[in-house]
Amino acid sequence: MHSSTWTSLLLLGLANLVPEPGKAIYTISNGAQNSVIALPINSNGLLSQGTSTPTGGAGSNVLVVNGNKKEPASPDALVSQAALTVAGNFLFAVNAGSNTVTMFAIDPQHPTKLTMLGKPIPVPGEFPNTVAASAKNQLVCVGSTGAKSGISCASFSARGIGKMDQLRPVGLNQTTPPVGPPSTISQVFFSGDEETLFATVKGNPATNTAGVLGVFPVDQPCDARDTASVSEEGKLTSVDGTIVVFGSSPIQGSTDLFVTDAAFGAAILSVDAETGAASVKNKATIEGQKATCWVAISPDTNTAFVTDVGLDRIVEVSLTDASIKSVTDLSANGDPGLIDLRAAGSFVYALSPGNGTTLPAVTVMDARSKKQIQHFQLKGLGASKNTQGVAVLV
Ligand SMILES: *[C@@H]1O[C@H](CO)[C@@H](O)[C@H](O)[C@H]1NC(C)=O
Ligand SMILES: *[C@@H]1O[C@H](CO)[C@@H](O)[C@H](O)[C@H]1NC(C)=O
Repeated sequence: MHSSTWTSLLLLGLANLVPEPGKAIYTISNGAQNSVIALPINSNGLLSQGTSTPTGGAGSNVLVVNGNKKEPASPDALVSQAALTVAGNFLFAVNAGSNTVTMFAIDPQHPTKLTMLGKPIPVPGEFPNTVAASAKNQLVCVGSTGAKSGISCASFSARGIGKMDQLRPVGLNQTTPPVGPPSTISQVFFSGDEETLFATVKGNPATNTAGVLGVFPVDQPCDARDTASVSEEGKLTSVDGTIVVFGSSPIQGSTDLFVTDAAFGAAILSVDAETGAASVKNKATIEGQKATCWVAISPDTNTAFVTDVGLDRIVEVSLTDASIKSVTDLSANGDPGLIDLRAAGSFVYALSPGNGTTLPAVTVMDARSKKQIQHFQLKGLGASKNTQGVAVLV
């Protein structure tokens, strides 16, 4: 064979091995004037300066008990994963302080250019803190965790979001703003096949209440001209062995879910989407952890990367048996801890909102070498210690 043929074969092989990097990451400022901060991902996986686009809504903060006072929480203002999400070339962001959700179109040629579609849409709940969207079913669902709590969904099109349907309760009795982190909604997200909507709800160690998984099937219309909807009849399962169930991700190619638990680390749940039954299959007790709350599964390494708001490190966990694969200490970059994160290509993008003294930043880690390749400080885009959520356009 010609050496050029060998070269092409080699290049073909490498092209298969090295996944394309993502196109952009997004976070919300979650300030009084909420905005979406968009940062472009370069071909080498690194971030550069981006844009800030108002959502037309307001952010807010959960209250945390500190001695006999209640104070606004930050970092981790919304005690959630997925305060914003991407489906196709659309982006959805919650406005916890104005009880709305905003939809944007992403310009695929310029992924940091966002155009709001319609107006922010009112949700029937209070304090929306997490959003899920299905491109396949054109559905968006918002979890609200205030005095009126539960999950509400609507269909969407390129013209915007339709009317949100009635709240599906998740068994909470909260205030607006809620007092957390315990007993609040953590995340809403769709299964890999987008046929089920899941919700994770934190239990409360003080009252010995376990974490709850909500399972709501997507109903396909009988008539192809109608739209899909999320069933009002869901199942809420109190999952034995969990406590403060937080951010989650479906595990591709299985019906299992990977969930973090602020009380001990992480777990793999086996879930029967038909009956809604859920149980702990494997548990990862992460030594020295403070509050392991967010997860991203890397499509490249096929492992989970989890973060802790109280520790500046990323822990890699096996998707097969929840064993700890690596611990990357990032303390040299000076962040107090990490919250939401996403994986794209062979990189992991993890947000630190800072703490008011330390600036917000995104750490870019190579998922293979587990080395930090960039520490990108968010300056001048409205980011603060209230900043929450990470979404990625791949
Ligand atoms: C909800 O909580 C309030 C106090 O915060 C209490 O008075 C009320 O009884 C609770 N309701 C339910 C249904 O638990
Ligand atoms: C903010 O975080 C830095 C780095 O961990 C720490 O040195 C500093 O004391 C923190 N400041 C506050 C106000 O918590």
